[in-house]
Amino acid sequence: DVSFAYDKKDEAEEALTGVDLRIPAGQTVAFVGETGAGKSTLVKLVARFYDPTSGRVTADGTDLRRLDMTAYRHRLGVVPQEAYLFAGTVRDAIAYGLPDATDARVEAAARAVGAHDMIATLEDGYLHEVAERGRNLSAGQRQLIALARAELVDPDILLLDEATAALDLASEALVNQATDRLTGRRTTLVVAHRLTTAARADRVVVMDRGRVAEDGTHEELLALDGRYARLWRTFMGQDIGEGIGEDEPAGV
Ligand SMILES: Nc1ncnc2c1ncn2[C@@H]1O[C@H](COP(=O)(O)OP(=O)(O)OP(=O)(O)O)[C@@H](O)[C@H]1O
Ligand SMILES: [Mg+2]
Repeated sequence: DVSFAYDKKDEAEEALTGVDLRIPAGQTVAFVGETGAGKSTLVKLVARFYDPTSGRVTADGTDLRRLDMTAYRHRLGVVPQEAYLFAGTVRDAIAYGLPDATDARVEAAARAVGAHDMIATLEDGYLHEVAERGRNLSAGQRQLIALARAELVDPDILLLDEATAALDLASEALVNQATDRLTGRRTTLVVAHRLTTAARADRVVVMDRGRVAEDGTHEELLALDGRYARLWRTFMGQDIGEGIGEDEPAGV
């Protein structure tokens, strides 16, 4: 029964309201919903970047406020919406959470998510110099590096806030594969901006203005024929005219 307001003085402006979720170990849950719906906020509460205004967030039944945060964070892998890459080598970018990792472990993590081949194409490979904020890498390359970084930490719980940047089809396929390898047996909360990610998850939670609006498998929510089904049809291009005004230009 979690509620949360960023501004404690203005609880009418809650980012989350009465959220009730139970996520079994090993499950991959995709969160979808409009911008501002509270998806990133929910994930941040699980990482304990913030504590709920009311209600509790628990891991294996223990309130996060009672857990040793250093130990808990070591079991967490966090891939933020826009992974920040400092200037340095690709190797350092992957080893960010585990700076003492050997080159062999860094490469193994990159291979595990399928980022190795991409890195091999860069000038100097793992020693390729990343510019501040990863400016000299494509959005897909940055995402693969962020996923390899999470893999290296080998977390039990993975919090993945998918980047909103549009990817070309080939990069999207690579990033999707990397995500699938990373989520594997892990307990995963993924904020899905791409509905292809939601469709592959064990479960989909639709957020709307801080509340859970729908909760079920991809198939169940399609059968429910509510918000998720509408999003999916728009995504599949079957709702043109409903989502977009009929007299809008057809495209460019
Ligand atoms: N650091 C912050 N301080 C104050 N308000 C915030 C902060 N971050 C988010 N909010 C507000 O909380 C609400 C939920 O935001 P949140 O970032 O969780 O949305 P989201 O579902 O992740 O959206 P998006 O799809 O655009 O990433 C919004 O009204 C937003 O303006
Ligand atoms: Mg967000």
